[in-house]
Amino acid sequence: MNLRVIILFFCLVVFVDGRKVHRFRLQRRSHRHHKAPHSHFHLQFRNALRRKYGYTPLRTVNAVNITSDPSKGVVLSEPLINSYDTNFFGVILAGEQPFTMQFDTGSSDLWVPSSHCRFCIKKCGSKFFKESKSKTFRTNNIPFSITYGSGSVKGIVASDEVAFGDLKIQNQGIGLVNISDSCSVFDGIAGFAFQELSMTNSVPVFQQMIDQKLVEQPIFSFHMKSGSSDGGSMILGGSNSSLYYGPLTYTNVTEAKYWTFKMDFIEVHGKNSRRCESGCKAIMDTGTSLIVGPVMDVLYLNKAIGAEHNDTYDLYIVDCATIPQLPIIVFSIANKEFYVKPQTYVIVYQDFCFSGFMDMRGLDHWIIGDVFLRENYVEFDWARKRLGIAPAV
Ligand SMILES: *[C@@H]1O[C@H](CO)[C@@H](O)[C@H](O)[C@H]1NC(C)=O
Ligand SMILES: *[C@@H]1O[C@H](CO)[C@@H](O)[C@H](O)[C@H]1NC(C)=O
Ligand SMILES: *[C@@H]1O[C@H](CO)[C@@H](O)[C@H](O)[C@H]1NC(C)=O
Ligand SMILES: *[C@@H]1O[C@H](CO)[C@@H](O)[C@H](O)[C@H]1NC(C)=O
Ligand SMILES: *[C@@H]1O[C@H](CO)[C@@H](O)[C@H](O)[C@H]1NC(C)=O
Repeated sequence: MNLRVIILFFCLVVFVDGRKVHRFRLQRRSHRHHKAPHSHFHLQFRNALRRKYGYTPLRTVNAVNITSDPSKGVVLSEPLINSYDTNFFGVILAGEQPFTMQFDTGSSDLWVPSSHCRFCIKKCGSKFFKESKSKTFRTNNIPFSITYGSGSVKGIVASDEVAFGDLKIQNQGIGLVNISDSCSVFDGIAGFAFQELSMTNSVPVFQQMIDQKLVEQPIFSFHMKSGSSDGGSMILGGSNSSLYYGPLTYTNVTEAKYWTFKMDFIEVHGKNSRRCESGCKAIMDTGTSLIVGPVMDVLYLNKAIGAEHNDTYDLYIVDCATIPQLPIIVFSIANKEFYVKPQTYVIVYQDFCFSGFMDMRGLDHWIIGDVFLRENYVEFDWARKRLGIAPAV
């Protein structure tokens, strides 16, 4: 149970070592349940998800080409599949082979498991990339490794065609993983952060889409939906104003590595609980399930919603019966307030109700994950380096 709970929450912010990017250590407070990524627990978890949502349907969900004038490039709506409100993924083709991918704005590389994977748990049910199936495959066997907030992968860098529906990128750098320490509900990750974070030294997929003139506008958007396996959509090359209320509020990206921005404050409504009072650094991250913040701030916010730390799970637990009475959480960004209601920020898993606020020791900023994105539409403007936010429909 412990591990199944823990891996329910992904944190796919990439860790960067050394001088290039400010290093922060994301360590869970307790390592007791973390010692090794025990494969059988992962397997159990994956099987539980399959029982709940089925597996084969994932392969048949298709991206919709909503282009009006093909000469201007494509606008594509890529459906997202929701698993437990904590993970959102979609299907792409790499070397003409289908993979279920997490679209992650917290990292910049694309990787899939290789058929040579020696240390992959084959029973995970993942798809494996076969070089022989692709005519466009190339590699010079340069090794790479990536460490995320949860888990790490190692392999070699290759290049091949990668397709999001009708949108076909040529010569996309792909990490072919032959060592993976875990098994997850998705096969691989497609990073949508900026090139500076790339660990495979590749041009990220969205930069490629712009350079190869595939997308109508140099923006992509996320509209995540809660509560069912329909997880909403990722729109490549545009935005869709019928998916949000009112105008988008824009905030500049302060450092184009992660999607970093300045948050004015965060508070539990009506509880005199404002944190990050004079503004603080935050990262918009579709690949992180929860809202992750500094230890003391998270303790404070969780106290204000009546959540108590449970040492067994190293998470904050809420009494499920109180959910309808809990206050909303307010995030102020660019002087505009955005809300997240308790039905969204409390994660219900089996008989447990977890707070959507999780701490990470050593973290001095906030990672704004799916808990926020499930209630707020976000446009990622790559060229103008800004985020547009509005309450989602
Ligand atoms: C879909 O995208 C392609 C470009 O790859 C374009 O040629 C085609 O006309 C588009 N189809 C529709 C239905 O818009
Ligand atoms: C990973 O795969 C590459 C080629 O596919 C191979 O050269 C390398 O030795 C492999 N590494 C490990 C640790 O399996
Ligand atoms: C925008 O979203 C609405 C609601 O889902 C949908 O009906 C419409 O087709 C979308 N429009 C475009 C251009 O994607
Ligand atoms: C955001 O960035 C743009 C372009 O760099 C700049 O013109 C604008 O003043 C910035 N806005 C704010 C609020 O800093
Ligand atoms: C954590 O939760 C479990 C399951 O509800 C419970 O058995 C345990 O006593 C709790 N531990 C603490 C320290 O609250």
